[in-house]
Amino acid sequence: MALQNVNVLLGVTGGIAAYKAPDLVRKLTGLGATVRVVLSPSSSAFVTPLSLQAVSGNIVHQHLLDPEAEAGMGHIELARWADVLLIAPATAHCIAKLAHGLADDLLTTLVLATNAPVFLAPAMNQQMWAAQATQDNLNILTQRNITLFGPASGEQACGDIGYGRMLETHEIANMLDQALVDMPVLASTQSIEVASSEPLPLSGQHIVITAGPTREAIDPVRYISNHSSGKMGYSLAVQALALGAQVTLISGPVALPAPTGCKFISVTSALDMHTAALHAIENAGDIFIACAAVADYRVANVMDHKLKKSADEMTISLVKNPDILADVAALSSPPFTVGFAAETHDVEHYAKDKLTRKKLNMIAANDVSQSDIGFNQSDNALTVFTADAQIVLPKQDKLALAKELLKIVAQHVSNH
Ligand code: C5P
Repeated sequence: MALQNVNVLLGVTGGIAAYKAPDLVRKLTGLGATVRVVLSPSSSAFVTPLSLQAVSGNIVHQHLLDPEAEAGMGHIELARWADVLLIAPATAHCIAKLAHGLADDLLTTLVLATNAPVFLAPAMNQQMWAAQATQDNLNILTQRNITLFGPASGEQACGDIGYGRMLETHEIANMLDQALVDMPVLASTQSIEVASSEPLPLSGQHIVITAGPTREAIDPVRYISNHSSGKMGYSLAVQALALGAQVTLISGPVALPAPTGCKFISVTSALDMHTAALHAIENAGDIFIACAAVADYRVANVMDHKLKKSADEMTISLVKNPDILADVAALSSPPFTVGFAAETHDVEHYAKDKLTRKKLNMIAANDVSQSDIGFNQSDNALTVFTADAQIVLPKQDKLALAKELLKIVAQHVSNH
């Protein structure tokens, strides 16, 4: 594989095919490349920086005039870091800017600032592809040794038929790999650095994750719920995908987009989540991570009409919900089970109690009395307990934390 250890800077511009970018990143990393992503200003309307950060394992670069980003890896360093620059999808607008050397955003600036070979996978409407201006611009670019991958012909998002569809992600990744074989200088530099091609730590594992809150109906318009944002569970899902797992994400109602590449099951109540989780585990689960903030109780008698205001006081009777995590751990051949314990005090004591009482393999505990971490925050800190180990994961972004936690899970699963 010529892409092994090659630094690929992937530029994503704002066409509908941008939604395929996370999959392209996975195909490139699957061939051994290290990928950093640069988003053009309009592309984030089609694909989220979070998904691309998760699958590439690197911060996504978006702005030219961002002092913070420049202090980290500035545009010149980024241009030097790249062994190859691939733009997929490359819109007609992007192609026009490149042909004329414009540098009004980070991506177009990088094209001028790098000496790495540039590859484009165009994607646009067939009429735009056929337009004389586009064809003239492409002529200029190919004369400058910029290589085009595609486009393909076929039915387009707009309903037209003709040339302009972006090639499939595996085709682009394989063509780039082949192009490097044909570029002896780059291929030989890279072959010196070929490291062990270890499989990803979670490849071959099917992980079922619960996330978000549940909603317990009182009547058709009211419910009982909690402040869980789903960020931790969704971060686990995206990182598990990046580490090679197959992921089923069962989520209560949250404001986050479903991560690309997972099997996504949307649920509302604890009972729905219970059914979905047991079904998913029965079908394929190797690892179960219960990250959802499941309501402990549900309303005993849900009204089928809106409750009317009358008396000054009202009593609602609640009944206990099933414990999804404990029920999964109690299966005759349970998966590797991981629970979360959100506590306001005596964190270690309650976490260890849950680990044994619910018969779990691992529990990740956090102190939710600290307002800057945990519920509804971007950061979290965890202490991970198993029967014989205790590992502290200090305060960090939930996405980074999810990766650390999953690496610990992967180690324990392999010894399980
Ligand atoms: O007992 P407690 O609710 O504190 O346990 C928290 C852990 O159990 C979390 O991993 C949560 O997702 C899981 N849980 C569950 N089903 C419930 C309650 C909690 O899966 N009904």
